[in-house]
Amino acid sequence: MGAAVRVRGLVKKFGNFTAVNGLTFDIEEGEIFGLLGPNGSGKSTTLLIIATVYKPTAGDVEVYGHSVTKRPDEVRKLVGIAFQDPKALWVDNPYELLVWHAMVVGYGLLDARRAVREIMEELEIWEHRGKLFSELSGGTRKKVEIAKLFLQKPKVSIFDEPTAQLDVTTKHRVWEMIRALKDEGRTVIVATNDMTEAERLSDRVGIIYKGSLRALGSPAELKDRIPAGDVLELRVDGALGEHVISALARALGTEKLNVSNGTLKAYVNRGEEKAAIAIETLSRLGVRVRSISIKEPTLDDVFFYFTGAQLGEGK
Ligand SMILES: Nc1ncnc2c1ncn2[C@@H]1O[C@H](COP(=O)(O)OP(=O)(O)OP(=O)(O)O)[C@@H](O)[C@H]1O
Ligand SMILES: [Mg+2]
Repeated sequence: MGAAVRVRGLVKKFGNFTAVNGLTFDIEEGEIFGLLGPNGSGKSTTLLIIATVYKPTAGDVEVYGHSVTKRPDEVRKLVGIAFQDPKALWVDNPYELLVWHAMVVGYGLLDARRAVREIMEELEIWEHRGKLFSELSGGTRKKVEIAKLFLQKPKVSIFDEPTAQLDVTTKHRVWEMIRALKDEGRTVIVATNDMTEAERLSDRVGIIYKGSLRALGSPAELKDRIPAGDVLELRVDGALGEHVISALARALGTEKLNVSNGTLKAYVNRGEEKAAIAIETLSRLGVRVRSISIKEPTLDDVFFYFTGAQLGEGK
């Protein structure tokens, strides 16, 4: 499978301010791609360019070979987006809006009505179908917005922070619905600040910071790229002599070792391989290992490492 979306040298300026600063990466066909980055790092701007809402200042994006600058109409046939801040400027209620949307993307009236009811029931917003938008809670408004993509099922679905306002139960349901799009062979892009969401959904993630790409890869690959990100914890019988500790440090290839109360902690990469090496080394030196555990970094740690920022910084 090739790339569904190719982002090449993408730049977006608002006046003098550069929101996207030369992004280049591919989103593979059939994957769920997570776009991560602190507030204001350019996630939504990038997604809005892929969806042809904004024009790039420089560079280009191709969706299945169609350029967003040269063939936006072709791109629009392939891409759908659920906006971060849904705005309904007209007075239709959610039901009418979704039926209208379904018909725009190709449903006949009866099918549209049936499909809209199904999706609204699945997202538990059927009871709100006749309300005015101004009467809806933030979470309900968001559900109406993402319902559009589950109706449309475009080849490339773009969700901008799909579950930011949703309760835990609904979050899990939406994650399942997003995975179902992938299982049907579609490509999904999800911008999120929620590392649990990113980890549960993404085959690969791209981390951007101030409009530039900082890291790209599967969550597991990125965890491995944090120097000494894994913590090996070993409990042994008896005291650990200096020679044992220095032999371990050599075998594990780390300087970062400390011992207290019969517990040795080693900060390493690829913890699972190193655990085997540690056991082997210690048994060769006649030290009995009582227990060993590996603590891997979380995606939060990955995020901090590659952005050097706390979530929420920048606004
Ligand atoms: N229409 C606009 N006009 C001027 N500046 C804008 C516009 N849209 C975005 N920006 C600026 O560009 C930067 C990137 O914004 P963007 O919305 O892409 O960030 P984001 O990564 O989606 O952030 P968040 O996590 O808060 O959603 C921000 O500094 C923002 O203020
Ligand atoms: Mg955003």
